Amino acid sequence: MADDLILDVQDVKKSYNGLEVLKGIGFSLRKGETKVLIGPSGSGKSTLLRCINHLTHPDAGKITLKGEEVVDSNIDAMRARIGFVFQDFNLFSHLTVLDNVRICQVKVNGIDPATATTRSHQELERVGLADKAEAYPAELSGGQQQRVSIARALAMDPDVLLFDEPTSALDPELTGEVVRVMQQLASEGMTMVVVTHEMSFARQAADEIIFMEHGYIVEQGSPDALFSGATNERTRAFLNVIAEHG
Ligand SMILES: Nc1ncnc2c1ncn2[C@@H]1O[C@H](COP(=O)(O)OP(=O)(O)O)[C@@H](O)[C@H]1O
Ligand SMILES: [Mg+2]
Repeated sequence: MADDLILDVQDVKKSYNGLEVLKGIGFSLRKGETKVLIGPSGSGKSTLLRCINHLTHPDAGKITLKGEEVVDSNIDAMRARIGFVFQDFNLFSHLTVLDNVRICQVKVNGIDPATATTRSHQELERVGLADKAEAYPAELSGGQQQRVSIARALAMDPDVLLFDEPTSALDPELTGEVVRVMQQLASEGMTMVVVTHEMSFARQAADEIIFMEHGYIVEQGSPDALFSGATNERTRAFLNVIAEHG
């Protein structure tokens, strides 16, 4: 195994009520790589991300983080190392922005409170929200709330960050500020898997784009290869639809 292999997903399967929504998915991620996962609604993208840290329990397959298999007995520790950014932010509404970013560092990672506070301010600065530390989530725009949730994930020092359609709950004018933060992270060498329909992000930041449909990986390749001529007809059709409506 190469030393810089961070995440390895092998042959993951998942069924709901007899319907197989992941039919044997595999991909891997080296340190600093960004992979963008695309595909029609219902193709299994969220289920795949959620299987990586067992928010959804996979039926079969193997997930390995830095050489260590993700299993039930180590799942809490693994989740602390796998950052997750959700479509709907998932912030604690009764906590300030600062406390949202602090709380898991202290409660999960056992960081001392003063160090966690310093780190939280640094991560808020990194996402452009240094002046919002004492605000509550409801006082922020959706784009700002999503940037708080990214700061919260970063503060945990994750080995990998998973994003599930981080901009799809946002008004179009707020998408850019979140995409810019993700682009910055990608260029700084963060290791990430991003489910998104933001093709400008995919073009600029992805080392590889993975196209999923009906629980399979249909095609994968560099942005240049996919945008200049996907070999698969379904991939081409999907990219055309995104280009028209995205
Ligand atoms: N908790 C669940 N129970 C039953 N079916 C589910 C559940 N979550 C997802 N599904 C089904 O699995 C399929 C894939 O869903 P999902 O992973 O959310 O796709 P995507 O994120 O690509 O839109 C869909 O048919 C969806 O209805
Ligand atoms: Mg989804």
